[in-house]
Amino acid sequence: MNIRLASGKEIPVEMHKVRIVQKVNLPPVGERLRALEEGGYNTFLLRTRDIFLDMLTDSGVNAMSDNQLAGMMVADDAYAGGESYYRLAAAVEDVLGYKYVLPVHQGRAAEHLIDKVFLKSEQVVPTNYHFTTTRAHIEILGGIMLEIYADEALNTRSVHPFKGNIDINKLKEVIKKYGRERIAYVRMEATTNLLGGQPFSLENMRQVRRICHEHKLLFVLDGSLISENAYLIKQREEGYENKSVAEIVKEMCSLADVYYMSARKNASVRGGLIATNNERYYLQLRDWLPVYEGFLTYGGMSVKEVEAMAIGLREMTAYDVAGCSVQQVKYFVERLLKNDVPVVTPPGGLACHLDAKLFLPHIPQSQYPAGALSAAVYLAAGIRTMERGTISTDRDKDGKEIMADLELTRIAVPRRVYTVSHIEYAVDRITWLYKHRDLVKGLKFVAEPPVLRFFFGRLASVDNWGKTLCDGFKKELGDY
Ligand code: F0G
Repeated sequence: MNIRLASGKEIPVEMHKVRIVQKVNLPPVGERLRALEEGGYNTFLLRTRDIFLDMLTDSGVNAMSDNQLAGMMVADDAYAGGESYYRLAAAVEDVLGYKYVLPVHQGRAAEHLIDKVFLKSEQVVPTNYHFTTTRAHIEILGGIMLEIYADEALNTRSVHPFKGNIDINKLKEVIKKYGRERIAYVRMEATTNLLGGQPFSLENMRQVRRICHEHKLLFVLDGSLISENAYLIKQREEGYENKSVAEIVKEMCSLADVYYMSARKNASVRGGLIATNNERYYLQLRDWLPVYEGFLTYGGMSVKEVEAMAIGLREMTAYDVAGCSVQQVKYFVERLLKNDVPVVTPPGGLACHLDAKLFLPHIPQSQYPAGALSAAVYLAAGIRTMERGTISTDRDKDGKEIMADLELTRIAVPRRVYTVSHIEYAVDRITWLYKHRDLVKGLKFVAEPPVLRFFFGRLASVDNWGKTLCDGFKKELGDY
């Protein structure tokens, strides 16, 4: 909850208390350099023992609640027909309003099944924006993602409250150009991840829904970050101020034909699900579930996680839970803005995003500014972040580099994990880095996998800048 202090300053006060802790280690800057070099300048290849604040992602690393942990103890371990599944189904019906649910081991497994059932080669999927795994599954099957965001979406210095909206005119054009037969489905992603955690409005979603209905197109909602999109609708969309997050979530779900989510985010577990009210879709998807995931009542998940997912779904729409990360992100973004550090605005969900093109304007996109910045933040702070730019965009079929629309360094804020003092530390070190940005140069690949290269790719620093930056840090700030 945001509290205004007597001084006038606002801080996001944590609405939970910490009852289990994990020791973290702040390695000295020389050690960070060694670890980064061992990891090929790729933050995915760091070990957590070398990391102070792990802000790589909010996925699967949120703090669970006491009730979720307690639920794990009463999970019903059965291959088929376990009660945990029925408790999950009841939660899905109560919270999301869907009659049918299929658990899957994580979000991309849902994408895999949805594409297997609904997508044919050469078909297109119009969407507000791609997510990496979403696009990979579509392309593997010979499909094409069409991003039909409004132009404002790529403006990182915007005040537009709903940069995750679909551009309705572009949607109409796509329908005119491809026709119903060539459109597999229309996809909307809540709190659009790769645009910098930007929400869409319910008004926009309703328009998309209306058009889909008119043209008999399937409408799929990726709700991995649904409670945060709903929280931002409550804050920003006229007419929703007095609705609860739970009501808004339900309204969003009522508009989609097929819903899926990575439950690793808003539901604070390690799993995922697909849900629908359409029996035919459900049966089509269900028949493939045991082939790729597991039997219907566990879907490839540990039943402990199934039980905790049921509880996490019920908890995620509570105002303070839906808002805990959003409020910290807002604080983070506003503190950096005050220091003139270029960040994506307005603040959204899931993370604070540095705009690497503006932070490091001297690095050409072919030398991966967002990757370089992610490496530099680790060196300057021991904080692990994620490159969300050209490294995260695979080459085209002919091996040509595709320059990403945005070069973002994502500093994720997992839910209920870090405190305001951690954010203050991050702000200080990132500001220091911004003042010394000339020391940072580009990266080049030394080993590049053919698909989702950002996971395992190895890079090196141009002119060995990693060492220069560490020497500069040491001279001013010492080892830490
Ligand atoms: N859709 C969205 C919007 C996501 O953010 C993610 C994952 C997925 C689908 C895939 O789900 O990881 O459970 O298989 N996002 C993570 C991230 C990986 O770090 O943003 P998954």
